[in-house]
Amino acid sequence: MENFTYHNPTRIHFGRGQIAAIDNELPANARILLLAGGGSIKANGVYDQVKKALGARTVFEFFGVEANPDYDTLMKAVALSRKEKIDWILAVGGGSVLDGAKFVAAAVPFVGEPWDILAKNAPVTTMLPLGTVLTLPATGSESNSAAVISRRAIQEKLAFLSPLSFPRFSILDPETTFSLSPRQVANGAGDAFCHVLEQYLTYPVNAEIQDRFAESILKILIDIGPKTLAKPKDYDLRANLVWAATWALNTAIGQGVPQDWATHMIGHEITALYGIDHARTLAIVLPNLMNVQRATKREKLLQYAERVWDIRDGSEDARIDTAIEKTRGFYESLGIKTRFSEYPEVKSGTAAQVAQRLASRGADKLGERGDLTPTKVEKILNLAA
Ligand code: NZQ
Ligand code: ZN
Repeated sequence: MENFTYHNPTRIHFGRGQIAAIDNELPANARILLLAGGGSIKANGVYDQVKKALGARTVFEFFGVEANPDYDTLMKAVALSRKEKIDWILAVGGGSVLDGAKFVAAAVPFVGEPWDILAKNAPVTTMLPLGTVLTLPATGSESNSAAVISRRAIQEKLAFLSPLSFPRFSILDPETTFSLSPRQVANGAGDAFCHVLEQYLTYPVNAEIQDRFAESILKILIDIGPKTLAKPKDYDLRANLVWAATWALNTAIGQGVPQDWATHMIGHEITALYGIDHARTLAIVLPNLMNVQRATKREKLLQYAERVWDIRDGSEDARIDTAIEKTRGFYESLGIKTRFSEYPEVKSGTAAQVAQRLASRGADKLGERGDLTPTKVEKILNLAA
């Protein structure tokens, strides 16, 4: 196991009725920006619960953060926050709203051009405090320090990480997710699954806790993903999906182990070009990346095959092939299509274009060993045809 320093400062309030806990989390004299998406929180009653918990506090509202939150939209929230001297951000929604809130919290006190936080890794030395009410289990943003921001005007999608951007608190009430469409439930389970693999499917470092935790999260998602779609109002299924998605990327299973993240890097380019849902881009990339990287991931692929899918018979390559097909089958069991040909918006030449875009910003040595070159990216995406 590699050395690590582990600290996750986010306080979680989990379960029915927990939105009321906002009242104990936010100072009475706080000047709060309530950041939200396109209106789902008004339709499902979450907004009313949040307003009740906020009571007489001073609250400014900013709705309209889109899926794959857009820089230009968020800069309007930054301007409002500066004008109104906001000192707390409360994000209410899915991963896009939470990520958007992290960016706003970093950009408001930032001196200089806020785009540099994303494009140039400009250091973030101070941030507004942030709390969240999560309504879509998927990203882990409710308990991690990452944010992924799109800028449609220039077809970019970039991430930033800062230890300061962990939410101070997050509220996870599984009932708030009952109003999700089947497509968003599937996206959430599929995204969380890939988060685990990005931190697990690398090479062994004898990290038994991280490996066994990762395998259990994968098995839970395989089990409850399709069941949640079939029984959308089942509280226990939903509660387990929410908690599994948090654990998939709350940074715990990633401590002391190598990490990959190439599937995500490639997937973000596909979203930037075509607007395809984040989780769907992962389903297109992941099985083919496993195939192309089978030599360097061999030991973990075999461990994954045996422990997660119970594949014990046949040659090593046959077992790996079966594990890759099972992985594709998991996404398809959620109704997520895994081939470019099933996404009519994707143009020919995309494989070379994505490889070139990554290379042009220096992302030419991806993966846990830095051996995933633009040539391999192109190969992966050609296999996804
Ligand atoms: O905008 P509203 O009206 O709220 O509707 C949203 C949106 O249209 C809707 N929704 C959310 N909760 C709902 C609901 N509809 C009904 N009932 C509810 N309870 O769902 C739609 C999608 O929401 P979004 O927030 O975009 O989805 P998700 O949580 O999957 O977030 C995706 C974004 O997170 C980034 C992705 O790249 C993408 O931009 N990621 C963030 C990560 C992180 N911070 O660690 C890691 C991930 O790998 C990922 O990259
Ligand atoms: Zn993801």
